[in-house]
Amino acid sequence: MRRLVLLLYATVTCCIAARGGGGDATGAELPEDTQDRGLKPKPQVKFNLRSWADSEEDGCAFTTGQRERLEECGFNATAKTFFIIHGWTMSGMFETWLGSLVAALQERERDANVVVVDWLPLAHQLYTDAVNNTQVVGKSIAGLLDWLQENPLFQLENVHLIGYSLGAHVAGFAGNHVHGTIGRITGLDPAGPMFEGVDPSKRLSPDDANFVDVLHTYTRETLGVSIGIQMPVGHVDIYPNGGDFQPGCGLSDVLGAIAYGTIGEVVKCEHERSVHLFVDSLVNQDKQSFAFQCTDSSRFKKGICLSCRKNRCNGIGYNARKTRNRRNSKMYLKTRADMPFKVYHYQMKMHVFSYQTLGEADATFFVTLHGTNGESDPLSLEMLDQIGLNATNTFLVYTEEDMGELLKIKLTWEGTSQSWYDLWKELKSYWYRPAKTPQELHIRRIRVKSGETQQRFAFCVEDSQLTSITPGKELWFVKCPEEWQKRSVSNLL
Ligand SMILES: *[C@@H]1O[C@H](CO)[C@@H](O)[C@H](O)[C@H]1NC(C)=O
Ligand SMILES: *[C@@H]1O[C@H](CO)[C@@H](O)[C@H](O)[C@H]1NC(C)=O
Ligand SMILES: *[C@@H]1O[C@H](CO)[C@@H](O)[C@H](O)[C@H]1NC(C)=O
Repeated sequence: MRRLVLLLYATVTCCIAARGGGGDATGAELPEDTQDRGLKPKPQVKFNLRSWADSEEDGCAFTTGQRERLEECGFNATAKTFFIIHGWTMSGMFETWLGSLVAALQERERDANVVVVDWLPLAHQLYTDAVNNTQVVGKSIAGLLDWLQENPLFQLENVHLIGYSLGAHVAGFAGNHVHGTIGRITGLDPAGPMFEGVDPSKRLSPDDANFVDVLHTYTRETLGVSIGIQMPVGHVDIYPNGGDFQPGCGLSDVLGAIAYGTIGEVVKCEHERSVHLFVDSLVNQDKQSFAFQCTDSSRFKKGICLSCRKNRCNGIGYNARKTRNRRNSKMYLKTRADMPFKVYHYQMKMHVFSYQTLGEADATFFVTLHGTNGESDPLSLEMLDQIGLNATNTFLVYTEEDMGELLKIKLTWEGTSQSWYDLWKELKSYWYRPAKTPQELHIRRIRVKSGETQQRFAFCVEDSQLTSITPGKELWFVKCPEEWQKRSVSNLL
């Protein structure tokens, strides 16, 4: 029963998601019987080589076995070959991201062959049928690759399959069926429904290529399903913004979105974000984003995981690199709401002293970073738990602009009566917690580590006599004297 609900949900969500393309479920053709050799059916999987000159065009179509046609199309057997594999479609047409991805690949790798795998007739089905078709399409790509390998100049190592949504699993099946090992597969938010938790041979997995990297952008669960697969399925699995909420994608309340009929746009925005992050990684080489290995999203949000030691950080998208033989390594980063997506991550550690004996602190802190390139907005120090008193607290903050070398930090404690929420918190503590929360805390130093540069600095309170901070007040920190800088490094190692 739960399975039925799951499938219904997946189908409905996908259908609405694709409504923008003007599709209509009843217009879907049934797949032709591919076993019927007598009637020579139209191919259900088509390959189009997009040339540099006419990336807007449909490209040059070729199929397995047509050696002359391949030459006519200008296929370069010694160059890198990318295959772009689309996902489930309700419109029966290519979506606009496809053109951007083709153009970005051509811009980055001028000699490369960029092949669009067109399986629209098999993808323009009920979701469950499209899922069933992914095996056939994967086998068809594997067949083409086996034929291409008859030319000794063509190396499977130079092949990179890029699959979006259901297309990611198609890529997995291609890698599974081909003779030899494909160089790389990139899964762009691989589809979740009917793939989550299944056997590795029935979905994209690290066995499918020498390097499998995955971007997960829509792994939020609603009614028991997630549109994008939640589990790690590659060597490197990157979860931008935790993989659940993408900035700039509007509504965070999915049930509300269903009620208002805007679910389609939210799904499309978050699911498709994986493609745009990949495009960004191809074209904005001067603004490369980095992801950091972490056991889970909440530890990352606390700023615990900003290390690059032992390959714990990696580029994202096209710039991701295989590191030893690690599998299912989960990595995280924050991003901006649009291109270029790069942000600058900082870990902040501060020891918070409280000379009052009772209570827990309910403080809302902001930091403003002043660097050689300017100053940041006030950045909130996100509290996942209570602030630790007489303890060291770790926070993650990030800026959209590069602040350059940090010079000063301003720490602000938001005043208690500034918002209705704070008032409510005060009332609540009045009724349930007779103990007064400390209204004065002391902070002497903030230790900062940049994720992007891996540099660490210690900042000391500007006036060493004034370490106290109260609601509505601020404290300034400047670079500590030299001996403290050394100490901060050894303390953190
Ligand atoms: C084919 O690709 C190789 C390797 O990228 C390159 O050196 C060569 O110039 C290309 N040949 C043509 C005809 O474009
Ligand atoms: C999946 O497709 C195959 C043909 O490719 C068909 O024989 C089979 O019945 C389909 N399974 C389901 C569950 O639709
Ligand atoms: C923190 O330590 C100070 C002295 O070291 C002590 O007086 C104070 O009660 C402690 N605060 C808490 C909340 O434990």
